[in-house]
Amino acid sequence: MNKTIIVSNRLPLQISIEQDQLNVTPSVGGLATGMKSVHADGNGLWVGWTGITDEELDADLKKEVDAKVKDVKCKAVGLTQDDIDQFYLGFSNRTLWPLFHYFLEYTEFEDSQWEAYKRVNQKFAEVVLDTIEDGDTVWIHDYQLLLLPQLIKDVKPEVTIGFFLHIPFPSYEIFRTFPWREELLTGMLGADLIGFHTYDYERHFLSSVKRILRLDVNFNEITYHDRIVKVDSFPMGIDYNKFHDAALEHDNPNTEISELQKRIDTHLNEDGDKKLILSIDRLDYTKGIPNRIRAFEYFLNKHPEYKEKVRLVMLAVPSRSGVPQYQLLKKETDELVGRINGEFSTVSWTPIWYFYRSLPFENLIDLYTSSDIALITPVRDGMNLVAKEYVATRTKQDGVLILSEMAGAAKEMNEALLINPNSFEDFASALKKALTMPLEEQNNRMKILQKRLKRYDVEKWADEFFKTLEATNKLQDVVVSKKINESLQNDIVEAYKKAKKRLVLLDYDGTLVGFKDNPQDAKPDEELYGLLDQFENQNNTKLCLISGRDKATFENWYGNKSYDLITDHGVWMRERSQWTPLEILKTEWMTNIKPILETFVDRTPGTFIEEKEYSLAWHYRTADPELAQIRTMELNTVLTSMVANNELSVLQGNKVIEIKSSNVNKGRATTQLLMKEDYDFILIMGDDWTDEYMFEAAPDLATTIKIGYVKTKAKYQIKDPEKVRALLKQLV
Ligand code: ADP
Ligand code: G6P
Repeated sequence: MNKTIIVSNRLPLQISIEQDQLNVTPSVGGLATGMKSVHADGNGLWVGWTGITDEELDADLKKEVDAKVKDVKCKAVGLTQDDIDQFYLGFSNRTLWPLFHYFLEYTEFEDSQWEAYKRVNQKFAEVVLDTIEDGDTVWIHDYQLLLLPQLIKDVKPEVTIGFFLHIPFPSYEIFRTFPWREELLTGMLGADLIGFHTYDYERHFLSSVKRILRLDVNFNEITYHDRIVKVDSFPMGIDYNKFHDAALEHDNPNTEISELQKRIDTHLNEDGDKKLILSIDRLDYTKGIPNRIRAFEYFLNKHPEYKEKVRLVMLAVPSRSGVPQYQLLKKETDELVGRINGEFSTVSWTPIWYFYRSLPFENLIDLYTSSDIALITPVRDGMNLVAKEYVATRTKQDGVLILSEMAGAAKEMNEALLINPNSFEDFASALKKALTMPLEEQNNRMKILQKRLKRYDVEKWADEFFKTLEATNKLQDVVVSKKINESLQNDIVEAYKKAKKRLVLLDYDGTLVGFKDNPQDAKPDEELYGLLDQFENQNNTKLCLISGRDKATFENWYGNKSYDLITDHGVWMRERSQWTPLEILKTEWMTNIKPILETFVDRTPGTFIEEKEYSLAWHYRTADPELAQIRTMELNTVLTSMVANNELSVLQGNKVIEIKSSNVNKGRATTQLLMKEDYDFILIMGDDWTDEYMFEAAPDLATTIKIGYVKTKAKYQIKDPEKVRALLKQLV
């Protein structure tokens, strides 16, 4: 039976050694807690790190760990202490985590840590590849494993791979500062579907893909080599019923009352008016903990009537304490809590109850159910599940959630009191509003929040992800239906060999050579000359290069060659070294159109005009892709009226708009060429929109091949110029 392999840095269980015994605890953090229920239900395997290093394990302990892990459908990836230092505490949490959360000042770029990151991603790949069987699906999670999708795809191209990022994807302006940005993006693009919590993260990612990799993005689909990679947002939910039911159980008079609950009850019973404000996070600088404490101090000063009436219960879960920034944060938090408690405490009241520990699930429920307000105010957070868990436990639909706008969860929790965590005023007024909110309003808000969380729970989230992943696979089938495989290639070669009279008609840019920023740099290389010469030496074979390039350029490149050339999209033809015009063209229109193009060049950095004998081309390959998209639309509109009056046409090439007389195109030239002789083998290859005219003009017997995997009239598709050359080599 096919299985789903979940891969994340941390397994849902963490193992440590205490007095020579293995001690197993559940992992904290949104990824592990959220995915746990997805994993529990499915037929799957979870691959990840156990929390223990290779050095801590002798052979017997390792066996024991493997068995414990296997019991819960997991498989361990062995990491050494050095891996933990360099990959986990290093690159993952000193580079990627701060950078992706916009903490540039905390971000370190260390070559040795990058090397470790690559090495450890490879270790994960090896374990995954070891367990993959045909038909399995791999679902990779989070920023520690950004290179893993491509590492797996390289070895197992047929395997379906999903990737989900649990943290924000930063804006291009931040991401571009990262020294290994291309590698990270291409690593992620190994997946068939890439998921984010919010649309903002999705569009930031797409923007980086467009600008850094210069790939074509069509809405949320990226054409990447011979695949379509789909990008979408799926806001992660929680196991709603688990939290809701636990809260109902908590309220059951037969349930035993925990020590923590007794303490809370004592506080609440002191005076009917007392309120608890809850804050729960991993102790992480992204969570805005010091700011929250200061804002609470500000609130108490601004509204002294709440002194002795409210208490902030702050649970900070120890996290990544091997990273210096986290140690500093711990110190800062301890000092702040101490100072404020010192400043405000009375005989019967301390304003902040501070716990620095991980609590069992039951105690989390005690806190969630007992708190009148949840104050969740990260400065930047991918999603934030704590906010959702609080809502799920409010079985009486009372309580108020104050939530930072900077948490991904804020996008779907509009009924919370949303605040900017950098504004103490926002804090103070939201706290005041929450403390005085009528019960009816609390109910109304909670009801809507709960309805959504219950419907779009973690199971639904995973289902939606898998459904989209499946649909993406179907998309690949359409894309690759015309793809040239080995047997088709052999058939073409066979037909070529058998034929008595052959025509090979080849476009140049994007077909025989790849694109360069400047068209003048895309000159033919020695290998290409050699290959084309070989065609010339074949009997009964006519080779013709057909291009939008101008006559002068081709004459310069192929002056001493004897094969045929068609230039300027079909204006000129060179046969047996003789140039003749295929069309008689006017050029007066150029004086009117050129100034218009010039204004577009002035306003669109990275673009330029190429002046040919019979056409004008506006190139925008190196312009900002989004600006270029707007400008091409504008230019098309401006040109529409002029074009009709001057019998011109506007061609949309590959990152170029070309204006030329409407009675020329490569299709007309192809027809003229075909009329001259009868062929029993015709091969036509081209990559862009202008080449579609050739495919249309080709007779049925022709083998027409499009370079690239986009919609085409050609019969077949091939990946890139490299593959074109391989096919041509095989022919000769
Ligand atoms: P992050 O993923 O950044 O840690 P989230 O809010 O998304 O933040 O997820 C935190 C998860 O950790 C929640 O599922 C929460 O229940 C759990 N958690 C938080 N505090 C504790 C704690 N003290 N003990 C155990 N689990 C905790
Ligand atoms: C966040 C990350 C997870 C990570 C968790 C706990 O939720 O998105 O990938 O596992 O924090 O952090 P840790 O470093 O302890 O794994």
